[in-house]
Amino acid sequence: MNYELKKLSLPNNLIHMKNFLELLKSRRTCRRFTDEDIDKKSLEYILEAAKLSPSGHRIRPWEFFVVEDKETLKALSVSKASGAALIEGAAAAIVVAADTSKTDVWVEDCSIATIIMQLAAEELGLGSCWVQIRLRKDAEGNDATDNVKRILNLPENYSVLSIVALGHKAIDF
Ligand SMILES: Cc1cc2nc3c(=O)[nH]c(=O)nc-3n(C[C@H](O)[C@H](O)[C@H](O)COP(=O)(O)O)c2cc1C
Repeated sequence: MNYELKKLSLPNNLIHMKNFLELLKSRRTCRRFTDEDIDKKSLEYILEAAKLSPSGHRIRPWEFFVVEDKETLKALSVSKASGAALIEGAAAAIVVAADTSKTDVWVEDCSIATIIMQLAAEELGLGSCWVQIRLRKDAEGNDATDNVKRILNLPENYSVLSIVALGHKAIDF
């Protein structure tokens, strides 16, 4: 696997946590966000963290699709029947998908990447929510994965595990 990690530049809002346990203790799922955008450096930081995730045989089957466009966020927010509406109010969403022809443990690989992104977001002081897509259906009974694939125009051999909704926290935990 020929992969060169880009030199990680740290966003200004990086909070230097005392230790890892502090980070884990402070993270709570956030479903309400302010209108403030997420700066590019922070998004890059979160993506770079995800790309450092372990994966079975280091196949790294995941692909991360960053959505900031309001109309697309709205479309994603109804891609499943419940638990996705919060995406409409997020500043950004990262769709975690994988080429399932590459590995039989893509669910595990994508799950790890999802939580790594949530922890990276927390380190930046940003709120995040894991929105489950795999095995979920929309209000009409259509497959949520098919909906997301159609919205993002993903290839046939891709599947979707989750969407990480991101934003500046509108509530204090
Ligand atoms: C596998 C998984 C799927 C989840 N799916 C959703 C979801 O679709 N929508 C949502 O609002 N929260 C979702 N969550 C967030 C959980 O509801 C949340 O992590 C849980 O209530 C514990 O709260 P905490 O994250 O603040 O500790 C999901 C979390 C996990 C780990």
